[in-house]
Amino acid sequence: MVTSSAPGKVYLFGEHAVVYGEPAVPCAIERRARVSAREIDEGLRINSEDLQLDGFTVEYDGDGEDQPDVDVAQPILDAAMGYVNEAVSQVRDAADAPDAGFEIEIASDIPLGAGLGSSAAVVVAAIDAATRELGVELTPAEVAERAYQVEMAVQDGQASRADTFCSAMGGAVRVEGDDCRTVDGVGNLPFVIGYDGGAGDTGALVAGVRSLRAEYDFAADTVAAIGDVVREGEAVLGTDDYGTLGDLMDFNHGLLSALGVSSRSLDSMVWAARDAGAMGAKLTGAGGGGCIVALDDTDGALTALRYTPGCEDAFRAELDTDGVRRE
Ligand code: MEV
Repeated sequence: MVTSSAPGKVYLFGEHAVVYGEPAVPCAIERRARVSAREIDEGLRINSEDLQLDGFTVEYDGDGEDQPDVDVAQPILDAAMGYVNEAVSQVRDAADAPDAGFEIEIASDIPLGAGLGSSAAVVVAAIDAATRELGVELTPAEVAERAYQVEMAVQDGQASRADTFCSAMGGAVRVEGDDCRTVDGVGNLPFVIGYDGGAGDTGALVAGVRSLRAEYDFAADTVAAIGDVVREGEAVLGTDDYGTLGDLMDFNHGLLSALGVSSRSLDSMVWAARDAGAMGAKLTGAGGGGCIVALDDTDGALTALRYTPGCEDAFRAELDTDGVRRE
């Protein structure tokens, strides 16, 4: 049995627009998915302690037809199972072992589908653990590439490299199309996360932005404007000009709202954080529900979020400079 872990992330800037070739800056945070893999004779057995699903066990032969009996929205569950299935396909391909069977155990403290990169972290850790179980060592960049192929398959060809590259490499990264690099010198930004207890369907949200962008020039301009915000933000990244970073986060949230990916609870957490003195706040990830990220070096936003109706959890998130790692 081999165990690997990989971090979740927040988007400082650029989600959704990154799918269309604009730059994005996700940052890995100290919340991890841990995946253990053991080779078995055939098939796939998945045990999960967490994934915010109250725990489930499912045994199946990999055709995805058996479903665990848990109280979670079906699209989110389908996506979770789809990610693990596709990750195992990548492992079989990497190890040239098309018939390899696995028992997979997942323990994650990243809420599922909430914008903190849970699926990317599970996929990255699963690919790393299961390939090592078969005696194959992939570099973090190779894990990132295979994890990206998984997201492309599960999200119907609509995915960027941002989540998977960030989770595999750790720290702050910059992704623009196929150009993925780590960003040095960012340090520990004072991130505060608010979580509404919900989740969004990434595939559906990405598809929604795609059709808006195809229908309206001003939606395409909105996507391009997010790219401008990111480029502006990069100029102050690594400095202590949190005021400008925060203003740009606010702007980024407004543009994402215009694209229809915010929600009442995300907006109310964003405003609670801003009213409490955060330098900026925005949704993070695909949206629709889940998490916001605020920039605040006082206790104001954290305290306010804890008292905000609809906010289930609020916590500080430290930058995690480690990406995928063996446990
Ligand atoms: C989802 O975490 C981030 C999106 O930009 C999709 C992607 O980059 O693949 C919405």
